[in-house]
Amino acid sequence: MTTNLKNDRFLRALLRQPVDKTPVWLMRQAGRYLPEYCATRKTAGSFLQLCKNPALATEVTLQPLERFPLDAAILFSDILTVPDAMGLGLYFAEGEGPKFERPLRHEKDILNLAAPDPEGELKYVMDAVREIRRALDGRVPLIGFTGSPFTLACYMVEGEGSGDGFPTTKTMLYNRPDLLHHILKVTTKAVTNYLNAQIDAGAQAVQIFDTWGGMLSLDAYRKFSLSYMAEIVAGLKRNKDGNVIPVIVFTKGGGQWLEEIAAIGCDAIGLDWTVDIASARARVGDKVALQGNFDPLALFAEPAAIRSEVGRILTGFGQGSGHVFNLGHGISQHTNPEHVVALVEAVHELSQPFHQA
Ligand code: CP3
Repeated sequence: MTTNLKNDRFLRALLRQPVDKTPVWLMRQAGRYLPEYCATRKTAGSFLQLCKNPALATEVTLQPLERFPLDAAILFSDILTVPDAMGLGLYFAEGEGPKFERPLRHEKDILNLAAPDPEGELKYVMDAVREIRRALDGRVPLIGFTGSPFTLACYMVEGEGSGDGFPTTKTMLYNRPDLLHHILKVTTKAVTNYLNAQIDAGAQAVQIFDTWGGMLSLDAYRKFSLSYMAEIVAGLKRNKDGNVIPVIVFTKGGGQWLEEIAAIGCDAIGLDWTVDIASARARVGDKVALQGNFDPLALFAEPAAIRSEVGRILTGFGQGSGHVFNLGHGISQHTNPEHVVALVEAVHELSQPFHQA
């Protein structure tokens, strides 16, 4: 039993220990599909100001928990706070997603990169973790997170998101792999320190978001993404005050490589919705837990269809612990919150027969 938690189902499932029902949380559970989030963001002024204000970040972290009986909270922040603290100048152009004022295009800038002090430039994130833990008061565990070095490098090199596979980053990968490796090396050090600081501040599990690793060839995935995530996992404090801190690795589009991901020593693997969860479980065996698998756009369907899709995934995973229900990617801003009620209810109700001794 994890000390001082009223609901530790999420942590138990990540460690494949028995649970009464399958735990559920949603990637991007605090976000624009909630009118109360939009109101708080307006008070803050912008998304970035919201991230940088620990009191307001705490408020929005708790908003989805007030509406739905979710089994975990996730720190309200963004993966791009780390490159921002490295001096790249993060901003969000209205309706256009994230951008950097100073993307990494020149060798001299790349060689000057340095890992930031998590209690310095990123102190606002640690303050948010501490304040959220106080506000949660043991209701559910708090998840900390980072982007994977490769996913962060995509934005750092490209300078923005990309609809066509991050061509500038790919050009560097094939032309100047040494430069990309240098970015990845410094970023790995930065995010390892960053996650350890989140754990010290109170994060009870951590997730590495590798949103873009799945667009690589297997060879490039091993060299430019998986090896750096392995280094992070090896460098994390996996024990805090007698509690294990589970690590979840989520490579979107990584369904072909589950055995290799399981071998880096993480506790759980995030699955997008393209993978069959029954085969995924058979492939990883008892090495790791699995998280996810529900198509975020299936939340656009009627509650009855949502319930039947939940049932299909729970049946696919089958008997016993080791599954954390989640979406296969972030929730869409156009989701009806009432449909989330249907999803969470269905997971908690329909999963009980799978956890009887
Ligand atoms: O899951 C959560 O609720 C925790 C908070 C969280 C956010 N971003 C808040 C956010 C987390 C874990 C992230 C991770 C993140 N950020 C990833 C990896 C996961 C993924 O979705 O692939 C990536 C690639 C980013 C970078 C990023 N931040 C993008 C591409 C965007 C724009 C996309 C969009 O939905 O507009 C953001 C902005 C962002 N991050 C928002 C939120 C709630 C929307 C900002 C707003 O309020 O306008």
